Amino acid sequence: MSLKFPKNFYWGSATSAHQVEGGNHNDWSEWEKINAKRLSKEAKIKWQPWQQEKFPEMFNPENYISGRACDHYHLYEQDFDIAKKLGHNAHRFSIEWSRIEPEQGKFNEKEIEHYRKVILALKKRGIEPFVTLWHWTNPLWIRDIGGWENKKITDYFERYAEKISNALGENVKFWITLNEPEIYASNSYFAGVWPPQKKNLFAYLRVLNNLIKAHRKAYGVIKKANSNSKIGIAKNNIYFEAYQNKLVNRVLKKFIDWWWNFYFLNRIRNHQDFIGLNHYFHNRINYGFNKNENKKISDIGWELYPEAIYYVLKDLKRFNKPIYITENGLADGGDKKRSWFILESLKNIGKAINEGVNVRGYLHWSLMDNFEWDKGFWPRFGLVEVNYKTLERKIRPSALQYAKICKTNELIL
Ligand code: FCB
Repeated sequence: MSLKFPKNFYWGSATSAHQVEGGNHNDWSEWEKINAKRLSKEAKIKWQPWQQEKFPEMFNPENYISGRACDHYHLYEQDFDIAKKLGHNAHRFSIEWSRIEPEQGKFNEKEIEHYRKVILALKKRGIEPFVTLWHWTNPLWIRDIGGWENKKITDYFERYAEKISNALGENVKFWITLNEPEIYASNSYFAGVWPPQKKNLFAYLRVLNNLIKAHRKAYGVIKKANSNSKIGIAKNNIYFEAYQNKLVNRVLKKFIDWWWNFYFLNRIRNHQDFIGLNHYFHNRINYGFNKNENKKISDIGWELYPEAIYYVLKDLKRFNKPIYITENGLADGGDKKRSWFILESLKNIGKAINEGVNVRGYLHWSLMDNFEWDKGFWPRFGLVEVNYKTLERKIRPSALQYAKICKTNELIL
């Protein structure tokens, strides 16, 4: 038996600038320098003994400094050769705002040229670029005016989006303005774990609101630059499961679905051409949140529950827009579970498609191992393994398994 995917389905993977490029100078790189020591010390409390044993690099402050990362900034041609070899026909990456506009209003044409080359390198290989404009990092001047709390940022972001879409829009069809705005707002302004580490409900709401406005403005200028552009965001949606279908659980689910999964999408309803779905989490609600059994987990303890994506996709049908899965993946250094996880996730995506959900692409997170934010380099999300000392790339067996699916557009069951 086989599961065929729709014609012209996009297959590929995703990365983001700060996590792979190396040599970035932004609010995150500055934050890393100040927090690396603390993070390396906290690893003792934060992670289980088996994780500590398996990934001792978590105790090294160097682990928390993005530094030269994968040096993808210089090695992108080689990395795209790998993607092509793996049968990918699409690739998502992000443009680093701090490179383009290192000082307010001063645009660096050389860096714009760099990204033009990146885009053309993809196209030359028959790989469709999905370009993200903002994947969490900010230029230092943005940080210094109060970051996303300052409402002026919506104008600055619009100007940046205008500049980029005018310069590069001719070769880019798919634009993702913002990556997981709700994750950023909550981790940076509510939970206080990411820069600028605020814990303030009002700041959180203000930031969310500015992100919504920034997206809407960017939508307008990107469309103006090229009316054929398709524009969306990458939204992290969670499968909230009302355990045993109990009334209390159903009520809680309704509320949390409204707030976490749909609020942002509802606010930009008239300003998006597709939905970009980043999916990682399942949350069983049983008189409270986070009551999962966690039978299967990844290296960083995230539950592996591939059925969840089916429910998330079904729920997104209400927006009546094409859906591209812009991220889905797992940290799996030993590559023991990745093949299984991809296969099972794709089966569930196929099931949703067969039930009428308009899914048009799957971009695995990630093409290669990279810098996983406040966790640093030890979590290994790549289809391709990266040796951070030699920068050598090594294709993992699961990547070859996935390549078969990419190349044939079908899954043999
Ligand atoms: C997502 C982020 C991406 C990566 C994966 C593991 O939330 O968008 O950059 O860190 O998680």
